[in-house]
Amino acid sequence: MDRLVLRQPDDFHVHLRQGSASADWARDAQKAGFARVLVMPNTVPPVVDSASLMRYRHSLAAAAPGLGLLMTFKIMAGMTTETLTALKAAGAVAGKLYPEGVTTNSADGVRHLKDAYPVFEVMQELDLVLCLHGEDPGAFTFDREVVFLKDFRALRQAFPRLRIILEHISTREGLETVREAGERTAGTLTAHHLLYTFDDLAGGALRPHLFCKPLLKRSEDRAALQAAAVAGEKQFFFGSDSAPHAKSNKEAALCSAGCYTMPVSLPLLASFFEERGALEKLDPFLSVFGAEFYGLPRNPGQLVLERRPWVVPLEYHGAVPPNAGETLDWQLQEV
Ligand code: NCD
Ligand code: ZN
Repeated sequence: MDRLVLRQPDDFHVHLRQGSASADWARDAQKAGFARVLVMPNTVPPVVDSASLMRYRHSLAAAAPGLGLLMTFKIMAGMTTETLTALKAAGAVAGKLYPEGVTTNSADGVRHLKDAYPVFEVMQELDLVLCLHGEDPGAFTFDREVVFLKDFRALRQAFPRLRIILEHISTREGLETVREAGERTAGTLTAHHLLYTFDDLAGGALRPHLFCKPLLKRSEDRAALQAAAVAGEKQFFFGSDSAPHAKSNKEAALCSAGCYTMPVSLPLLASFFEERGALEKLDPFLSVFGAEFYGLPRNPGQLVLERRPWVVPLEYHGAVPPNAGETLDWQLQEV
């Protein structure tokens, strides 16, 4: 089989940044084949109210007409019901919780999860999805996700009607906790956490373009993530966590966290699902489970991946994808 026809997929976790560069990242999302993207709010300044959300969506829509923009806001402790109601009215679909200091642009994040409980209460009433960066900043870096899960379970119990997503799951325990949490709980999986481990990042020469939060983990964790994806478990769907940084900020003494994976995600995932003999599970992972969780219709369009080797460009607008220069088997048919 040399041609793969897929429903046009969604990417439920992307960073499109701010300023003039955001036009490039938004257009890249379209070129990479995505119909809709869930746009993260950790811009500078962040998306925290209806005015900033509408401004941001407007600029992205002008840059990439036709790209489905699912907007989020950054959760701040003390956000008022009025602000949250206005965000919902402006079209926000989700709020993103960043624990303080845990990743790129999160210095203004929430210190203790409990501090945001009043916000979660209102989000539950408004039926806004809660997206969690699930890492405890007080824990050792490698353990941050697992330590966070205790707070996650308490949160799950406290707000039974809230839809909650554990973003970019990186551990076996993270998957287990989402499974146990049941129906209104889901997790996103990135291509890099599915395909790489900490050894790829730092086992030999350091590969800064694989450095992201949460850190890549052990091969046992990767195996658990892979099994969840190819089994077609509907609680787990794709969110690339595509996070472009300038090459000079990645190949640096203080390397920024984030991998720019959007342009390579579909070819990488096609190869991976094919190797596992699970190509029929690719479409639900990319285009069905996430849409269902968010209560969105499935995308009507299609795209074609062809088995035609291509070399990943060394840079996209100054950002380097993790596998720059490598040859991939599948490529998106130009439309
Ligand atoms: C993301 C970024 O660069 O904005 N970085 C990352 O390492 N994943 C933020 C995030 O999602 O944690
Ligand atoms: Zn992210």
